[in-house]
Amino acid sequence: MSFDRSIKIAPSILSADFANFGAEIRAIEDQGADWVHIDVMDGHFVPNLTFGPPAVKAFRPHVKTVMDVHLMISPVDLYIDAYADAGADILTAHIEAGPHIHRTLQAIRGTGMKAGVALNPGTPADAIEHLLDLADLVCVMTVNPGFGGQKYIDMTDKVRRLRSMIGDRPIHIEIDGGMDPTTAPLMAKAGADVLVAGSAVFRGGSVDNPAVYGDNIRAIRASTQD
Ligand code: DX5
Ligand code: ZN
Repeated sequence: MSFDRSIKIAPSILSADFANFGAEIRAIEDQGADWVHIDVMDGHFVPNLTFGPPAVKAFRPHVKTVMDVHLMISPVDLYIDAYADAGADILTAHIEAGPHIHRTLQAIRGTGMKAGVALNPGTPADAIEHLLDLADLVCVMTVNPGFGGQKYIDMTDKVRRLRSMIGDRPIHIEIDGGMDPTTAPLMAKAGADVLVAGSAVFRGGSVDNPAVYGDNIRAIRASTQD
């Protein structure tokens, strides 16, 4: 995985057809997705449940780009090796998921995966000040995690602040929640380079009508390029 700050669209398969993940992943990649975002929820850290390591491992052969795994689970450390074995390229843990995020990021990198740290809307940018040398990605939540299709919460100031804290370090700023062609340009301007989008990518399309996914991805990308 080489590093660059160009805009990357990462569809979240949380909005895909849960009975057809392989074909959905192939469809979004054929239609221009840069990364594939996988939302892991445990029914404890967030009030919703999705899938675990065996499912993520089954997705792996279908992902040709980057498998970006967002853990909304607590605790995290017990499961890091299982997600490495499942083939995650990037593993992101929430700073709010436990008392030892520093150790968690070290452990993620120790497996060879890239390490991400996610911040809930109520968590300030400064919380990652002492983690910058351990993170490859900072995920700024623009909804409270747990569900797709929620209303965007503006985090422009936080993203701007993170962008200046990061400086020249090779750390991605990813935005997760409520990204569409009206909100994506705000985040791109503030300094984000990875935009996760679930409902705004999958809306109106299907594996039988994948061109809609392509239209939706292009509309989000184009909105950031004005
Ligand atoms: C929220 C998830 C997001 C979600 C985004 O807990 O982390 O990735 O799927 O969905 P939309 O784009 O519909 O807000
Ligand atoms: Zn996510």
